[in-house]
Amino acid sequence: MTSIFLSENIREDGSIVDEEAFNGAAASLYMGGVDTTVTSVMTFILQMLKNPEVQRLAQLEIDEVVGSDRLPAFNDMQDMPYVRGVCAEVWRLTVVLPLIPAHQTTEDDEYEGYHIPAGTTVFANAWAMAFNPEYFPDPYEFKPERWLGEKVHGPHPTDFVFGFGRRICPGQDWAEKLLFIVVSSMLSVFNIQSSVGEDGKPIPPNENYSLGFLRQLGSSQCKITPRSLKAASLLENSVFAK
Ligand code: HEM
Repeated sequence: MTSIFLSENIREDGSIVDEEAFNGAAASLYMGGVDTTVTSVMTFILQMLKNPEVQRLAQLEIDEVVGSDRLPAFNDMQDMPYVRGVCAEVWRLTVVLPLIPAHQTTEDDEYEGYHIPAGTTVFANAWAMAFNPEYFPDPYEFKPERWLGEKVHGPHPTDFVFGFGRRICPGQDWAEKLLFIVVSSMLSVFNIQSSVGEDGKPIPPNENYSLGFLRQLGSSQCKITPRSLKAASLLENSVFAK
């Protein structure tokens, strides 16, 4: 976005058209997009360490749909219900902004017996939605199968973790695609496993999210290794492809 804008908006004297507004737009996207996506990917890795069986089932699906001659592509998403379920659970358990930033009602409203006058500041509680046991039994468990076929009930996490209304996250579409491609690509070529400590036991992953407006997850010591020689060369070819 920055390079396209600059290529079209530098004047002959070197000054930039609407520089201040553009600075704000670029900085907003950076600030809105970095910690949120990193925390989501870290949650994915954490859950793979905790749920090896989920990892195995997702890899089975990826192998069936994609094979081993290429990496997954965006249009594989429709054929991968289990991987979509993995992504849904990552969104739900990450719930990166547990309290959606302040909104204001534009008109009087009524909700479950409460009168909410126009102009009221309202915070939507995404955390309560994500972990509501009525919708999601065993809410803290990572269960992609919740999202398969008949068993689906409750709102999809992407309908609430990105906020609501006119100020809804402008990065939602990008973030959803990013998570799918990261999850499917990583699982197609890597095994994600716990490291073994000096005592011969698996080192437990770090599950501590920071408290605050935005949840962040620190790193875990783990092993991310190519699933096969073929996977390693596929990866090398894609990284070094011109
Ligand atoms: C990775 C997952 C992400 C989640 C869960 C997320 C979540 C949110 C939420 C809950 C809001 C507040 C919405 C509201 O007030 O109703 C928001 C706003 C925003 N997000 Fe995201 N976001 C994510 C990724 C991104 C990305 C990738 C970008 C940019 C490339 C981005 C840019 C923004 C910006 C600029 C705002 C402020 C919008 C405004 O106030 O008008 N976000 N995001």
